[in-house]
Amino acid sequence: MDQHGRKVHHPPSSYQNHKRNKDHESVSVNPEHKRVRQSHPPHHGGSPPVSSSASPCRALSTRRQLYEKDFPVYKQPVEVGSFSLDGERRFFNDARQMRYFVKPHPRPNFDLRDGYKDRFVKRDDGVKEKLDHILRWILANRSKLQSSVSAASSSQALGVDIVTWRGHLTKLLTTPYETREGWLLAATLFRGTLYISEVETEASRRDRDNRTERHEEMMYWGYKFEQYLCADDIKGSPNPVGVVNTNEAFCTVVQTKLADHKLLFSGEVDCRDGEPEAPAAPACYIELKTSAEICTPKQRSNFHRFKLLKWWAQSFLPGVPRIVAGFRDPDGLVVGTETIQISKISHLIKNEYNCWKPTVCMNFCCEFLSFVRTVVREDNPRVVHLFSWDPHQDVTYSVHRDTTYCFLPPWYVEGMASSSNPPH
Ligand code: A3P
Ligand code: MG
Repeated sequence: MDQHGRKVHHPPSSYQNHKRNKDHESVSVNPEHKRVRQSHPPHHGGSPPVSSSASPCRALSTRRQLYEKDFPVYKQPVEVGSFSLDGERRFFNDARQMRYFVKPHPRPNFDLRDGYKDRFVKRDDGVKEKLDHILRWILANRSKLQSSVSAASSSQALGVDIVTWRGHLTKLLTTPYETREGWLLAATLFRGTLYISEVETEASRRDRDNRTERHEEMMYWGYKFEQYLCADDIKGSPNPVGVVNTNEAFCTVVQTKLADHKLLFSGEVDCRDGEPEAPAAPACYIELKTSAEICTPKQRSNFHRFKLLKWWAQSFLPGVPRIVAGFRDPDGLVVGTETIQISKISHLIKNEYNCWKPTVCMNFCCEFLSFVRTVVREDNPRVVHLFSWDPHQDVTYSVHRDTTYCFLPPWYVEGMASSSNPPH
């Protein structure tokens, strides 16, 4: 796909000509449990984003200028399955939580505060599920993945290079433009596939513990908006007097390729177009979003520069083609809605000075994945490489063996090894 989400055939991009630095294989890079520090001078425009070929890859620059090159090849994402999480966060290998979009009135007057106090079941965000739901889906659908031609001819158990959540990839896409929040991503190589799972940062934990009541309520507003626009059945209507339970989720699992990285990831989908003429998934999916009403040119500019970056990244990755946005006043009343085509976002932002660029986002993500695959060589579910990034810094990493950072659960490791399902 190109940055607009159209199917295109790409000429070889500069990425494809960029050879990975393999020198690290003969060098001892990182003592166990020690943070690997940046050991090279700051990058200047035009230099490779990782350390020079004379030294091992220890850090990755996030400077935007380094990633302003041709848009990398991004294959049209293909849905390979889906799963559901119920009101108690139980996994089901089916689409029971799928919801159907119901077009709103142009001036709807939805009250997003309604039900916050008395009809809201909030997911416990202190419970870290890591990749568990995706791993459950993989074990239940292993034969589907393995039956693909690539799996049969590869040394990988699954025939993919990377397994992760879409949300983790969204964070990577927006990293070159992020100035506030850093991240920690844990990576483990197991049977030839790299699993990437987020670890909560201290700062994020602090923010979570210190949210104001207003912030807590505003987090509810997005889910309430979904309730106003979604029906549980294809011919049904939304039920605004029902309970909002944020444990419930419908997740798509897609497969795609970013340059030479074969990706398998999952992401929550808000709803689908239920019309008979709607295209197949993921093109029938619709992302729902809320945002503050735009009243001034400054607000419009901020919306383009900050919000549309996150919205674009989240939906572009799984090939969700459109967003229905609700614009709300400070009291949580939705005063208007708008449909935004993902393919039109780069056009919408083109008059903003010094704005974000889709190609920078995709090239950075691609280089990060190359960096991780270069660094993580030991195929062992008990080894975690922890990649760490703070705004205005390079990405660095540390290595952890048999620690609480391990995130591939025994049931998954054993399930993958079971003789009833040989890896190849
Ligand atoms: P909005 O997107 O309308 O703000 P998603 O849009 O990704 O499906 O998420 C649904 C809603 O979850 C969001 O609606 C918002 O209310 C809440 N939410 C998701 N991520 C959040 C975050 N990082 N901080 C606060 N609220 C969040
Ligand atoms: Mg949404």
